[in-house]
Amino acid sequence: MDNVIVTQHLSKIYVQDFLTFESGRPRLNLRRETKRREALRDLNLEVRRGEIFGLIGPNGAGKTTAIKILMGIHFPTRGSAKILGRPLGDKWAKAQIGYLPENPYFYDYLTGGEFLDYYGRLYGMGRSQRRAKIPELLERVGLTASVSIPLRGYSKGMLQRIGIAQALLNDPEIVVLDEPQSGLDPIGRKEIRDIILSLREQGKTVFFSSHILQDAEMICDRVGILHLGDLVKIGRLEELLTAQVSEFEIVASGMRAEAIAEVERTSKRTLRRADDVLFIIERRGDADAALAKISACGGTLLSFTPRKETLEDIFLKQVGRGTREVAGASRGEVA
Ligand SMILES: Nc1ncnc2c1ncn2[C@@H]1O[C@H](COP(=O)(O)OP(=O)(O)O)[C@@H](O)[C@H]1O
Ligand SMILES: [Mg+2]
Repeated sequence: MDNVIVTQHLSKIYVQDFLTFESGRPRLNLRRETKRREALRDLNLEVRRGEIFGLIGPNGAGKTTAIKILMGIHFPTRGSAKILGRPLGDKWAKAQIGYLPENPYFYDYLTGGEFLDYYGRLYGMGRSQRRAKIPELLERVGLTASVSIPLRGYSKGMLQRIGIAQALLNDPEIVVLDEPQSGLDPIGRKEIRDIILSLREQGKTVFFSSHILQDAEMICDRVGILHLGDLVKIGRLEELLTAQVSEFEIVASGMRAEAIAEVERTSKRTLRRADDVLFIIERRGDADAALAKISACGGTLLSFTPRKETLEDIFLKQVGRGTREVAGASRGEVA
């Protein structure tokens, strides 16, 4: 198998020094404190040539840290990584990468065309090369009509797309996008998704991070789930998502209270609404019994939906419900 990115035991502990003041006699005491935060622990992953790989996880999981280490912006505390067979920091390997950071800063007085031209020069592209490439990229990300508009007039989705165009200027083999869909509305997210899919069609490898599970689920060949710095799961989507039905959703109306109570005993979750009731049932036999009960008690079956496991189900199983916001702050600190 042809791996374009390989990480081995990649780990990062951020160390922050800060001063605290204590008012004491005879004078003010200054104390130096050190905070260590373990952001990434023993990350081992491989990204294969030509695939779309999604690194997913809640805020604070360590996605940006992993990406910044791969991009040579941060140094790992332990472990190593190879990009296209070369060690981190290798200039040739860097030239084969296109990168869009999580919160890019753009000079917003430049027009879209000027912005790409400026970056083209930073890449060392000649004038004729830039003249050929820039219109092609604008077309690609759907911004041809906005070439003369200053970036301050761009929407968030347009900025993300011009940012992706920037990452494609050098015709990279690997495209690394940190949360490209974050903060976008459904249309903006779809536009980014379509661009990512078109990159794979061109034979490029896309490595992107996201906390938006649905977007990852729609386009990734493989995903890695990161949580509190640990890679808790990695694999092909089809392997992670069992093809089996994991539960049945039944909605019925006109059921008598006793019948509802009886079905509720085998139901994982029961939701009573104004006129109808929804049951989530895990076992096939229990679901069949519930259907029989509904018709026996004179109720009406409104819908019966076998549900397959989604990426969100797997994610919640690994990450745990309700821990998304606070988790990074509590366990990440090691001293
Ligand atoms: N420069 C930094 N200094 C100290 N801590 C950091 C720094 N960058 C990130 N962290 C901490 O590392 C953890 C992982 O952050 P990050 O990699 O940005 O996660 P994600 O991109 O998945 O949201 C968080 O707890 C975050 O607060
Ligand atoms: Mg991030």
